[in-house]
Amino acid sequence: MNLVVLGAQWGDEGKGKIIDFMSDNADVVVRYQGGNNAGHTVVLADKKFVLHLIPSGILRAGKKCIIGNGTVIDPVYLLEEMKYVEGLGIKLNGNLFVSEAAHVIMPYHKILDRLNEAKSGKKGKIGTTSRGIGPCYVDKAGRLGIRMVDLLNKEILAEKLKANLELKNYLVKNYYKEKTFSFEKILSEYLACGEKLRHFIKNTYVMLEQAAKNGKKVLFEGAQGTMLDVDFGTYPYVTSSNSTAGGACTGAGFSPSRVNKVIGVTKAYTTRVGEGPFPTELPVELNDELRGRGNEFGATTGRPRRCGWLDMVVLKHANAVNGFHSFAVTKLDVLSGLKEIQICVAYKYKGKKMTEFPADLKALRESTPVYKAFKGWTEDICGVKKYSELPDNTKRYLEALTGLSGVNISMFSVGPDRNQTIITDKNLWK
Ligand code: IMP
Repeated sequence: MNLVVLGAQWGDEGKGKIIDFMSDNADVVVRYQGGNNAGHTVVLADKKFVLHLIPSGILRAGKKCIIGNGTVIDPVYLLEEMKYVEGLGIKLNGNLFVSEAAHVIMPYHKILDRLNEAKSGKKGKIGTTSRGIGPCYVDKAGRLGIRMVDLLNKEILAEKLKANLELKNYLVKNYYKEKTFSFEKILSEYLACGEKLRHFIKNTYVMLEQAAKNGKKVLFEGAQGTMLDVDFGTYPYVTSSNSTAGGACTGAGFSPSRVNKVIGVTKAYTTRVGEGPFPTELPVELNDELRGRGNEFGATTGRPRRCGWLDMVVLKHANAVNGFHSFAVTKLDVLSGLKEIQICVAYKYKGKKMTEFPADLKALRESTPVYKAFKGWTEDICGVKKYSELPDNTKRYLEALTGLSGVNISMFSVGPDRNQTIITDKNLWK
């Protein structure tokens, strides 16, 4: 049984928490796209752990964790995160494996990310995490990229780095009017990283094929979310990888015929960080209120998240693209105490109702949400242990979510802790 868990919105849906919860039943946990732009938060007994690159499954003893070929890896950062995880008393040797085919985020990718954004100005910038993600994927698609396996071979790394720096230094010097990069410095630093990572760098898709053949349970941990997917998100205000379900197959080397279920993680409302359209974004006052209640600040950059009501056009679009088996609904407790809660059921554009998410950002910007209102609840639901214990109005809200989206709910969460996620579908792993 192999499951993909991914974000149904603009990221930050609480995937880390859901993966941590579900990895109790998994044998292998795999990251398949993105890099350390992600921020996956897990809370255990009031202690907060944030992982950006290593799969959240690592926090459960003995789980095999793979960083797949579709990810982009900053090796300097990876070594730091490994140190952090080892500091928690978790053994990485024999539990963490990094794909030899994953692309390496080089120092120039990080600088170019910042320079591109600065050059684009306030109006044109994407609002990236500045981790070098986009420029690294550009080189991957441009067939210039350096892969993890290259860090293990001095001649090859030197040759590729030289070719890259010729172009990058020209660009940095002549277009951005900035300092150029030193070949020797990068070569020695990245070879040293390769040496430290040598025992972790493997052919991971073969390991996954073996795991599947041996009947192991594999859990795929999506990063970012459907609306940040480079094909199906609010392009160009997206990340540079496929954060949708297909990305799990290409980003891990895992056959689609072996994926049994795709679980979409959605907050009980919506948030987004960075620039780009967000149809249900709330006016300042309510936006601030929801941000305060939900502590909506980016786990990677600390930026305040933009907040809005749940958007059914988005969730239906996400379901169409990903084929969800069910939803994991997070942060339901954040809505407690609100008098009225809204769900956007369509957009109105040029006087007409639109229920499909448009690729045309102009249409999106000019459309207004059509809302359906639901009565709120005043009860504190943080301690709820079963669906039946939820207040009637909370149940009505969840029923509406299912009714409007056509997707069942397999779990919901009422707080950050591992024991505040409640499973409603006991057959999830069957
Ligand atoms: P990049 O992935 O750093 O290139 O950023 C591109 C866009 O994706 C920006 O709007 C970021 O804020 C957003 N983004 C990237 N990673 C995450 C994430 O893990 N959660 C939420 N937004 C993200």
